[in-house]
Amino acid sequence: VKVNNIQRVLVIGAGIMGEGIAQTFAQAGLQVRLIDLDKETLSKCLVQIRKNVQQFIELGLIMDEPDCVTARIEGRQTEDIAGAVKGCDYVIEAVPEILKLKKEILTRIMSANSQISVASNTSSFTIDELVEGVMYPERVIGLHYFNPAHIIPLVEIHRGRQTAEVVYQETLKLMQQSGKQTVLVRKEVPGFIVNRITAAIEREIDYLLDEGIVSPEDLDIAIKSSIGFRFACLGPMEVEDMIGLDTAMRVSQRMFKVLSNAAEPSPELVVKVKRGELGIKSGKGWYDYRSQTRENVLEEKNRVLLQQLKLYQSRARE
Ligand SMILES: NC(=O)c1ccc[n+]([C@@H]2O[C@H](COP(=O)([O-])OP(=O)(O)OC[C@H]3O[C@@H](n4cnc5c(N)ncnc54)[C@H](O)[C@@H]3O)[C@@H](O)[C@H]2O)c1
Repeated sequence: VKVNNIQRVLVIGAGIMGEGIAQTFAQAGLQVRLIDLDKETLSKCLVQIRKNVQQFIELGLIMDEPDCVTARIEGRQTEDIAGAVKGCDYVIEAVPEILKLKKEILTRIMSANSQISVASNTSSFTIDELVEGVMYPERVIGLHYFNPAHIIPLVEIHRGRQTAEVVYQETLKLMQQSGKQTVLVRKEVPGFIVNRITAAIEREIDYLLDEGIVSPEDLDIAIKSSIGFRFACLGPMEVEDMIGLDTAMRVSQRMFKVLSNAAEPSPELVVKVKRGELGIKSGKGWYDYRSQTRENVLEEKNRVLLQQLKLYQSRARE
């Protein structure tokens, strides 16, 4: 299949995800048009991207001038999707997770351009659900980025039943060009691959905390210095080969029976949410951040992740 050469990407929605997605493309040398309805969100986003680019440069992750990277991003406050699509070769939508809104955006893109490939960063809808009643369903594909999208290497690709092969190939090429690691979700299921595993871990964490088996602080230490440490460089299948499949089987036979099978989040988590303890964004969650600004907390966390990215990239080059 002949794949188009992509030069300009349209990113719709300059929120948490659109910000990181736009930065990733700009750092890879692509032109980006980033649009949002909200003027303040858009200008905050552009300021944050600049800071994030500076961090990448400081840590030697990219060799570029901040101005050169940000000059590739054209921020536009607009509702006019048709106007925004003009001159772009690929679209990624990162608007809120509301089915009706996403369908409306898809419809508007398709009425403006019948040729363009459109990716959705949806975290919970299948492409089959999104394209129902939408024109040119074969042009829509799923690209599931992970927060913070400018740092986490993985993007999960999922296709609907009608997604065209050429759209998949074009998307793969674009992800390679922008330095992302991809995996293909071979069947669309809720949570795709990674969020299913995260949810399974979260359920067991809820149980351990609720039963008073471990404190939240020790839980973080335990994970970071064991499975997290290992999984950052050896995948679970590689680890299982190290353990021995016979041993892994016996452990599963015993453990699966005693694991939590809760169908609802833990009461403690629900109480915290009711109290407004939402984490960094509200100043308090499992930890207390009230003595720092949100920006500073995130910058510190990103710095740790960027060290990890450096290691990851150096291993990828080996
Ligand atoms: N937040 C995460 O960690 C995460 C991770 C993976 C995937 N996602 C998915 O990414 C998508 C975006 O999530 P987010 O967390 O970035 O949301 P967000 O609320 O931070 O950002 C969405 C932005 O879209 C803008 N918007 C709404 N309607 C618009 C329109 N018609 N035209 C242009 N802009 C419009 C909003 O003003 C807002 O700034 C969702 O589908 C979400 O499920 C989120």
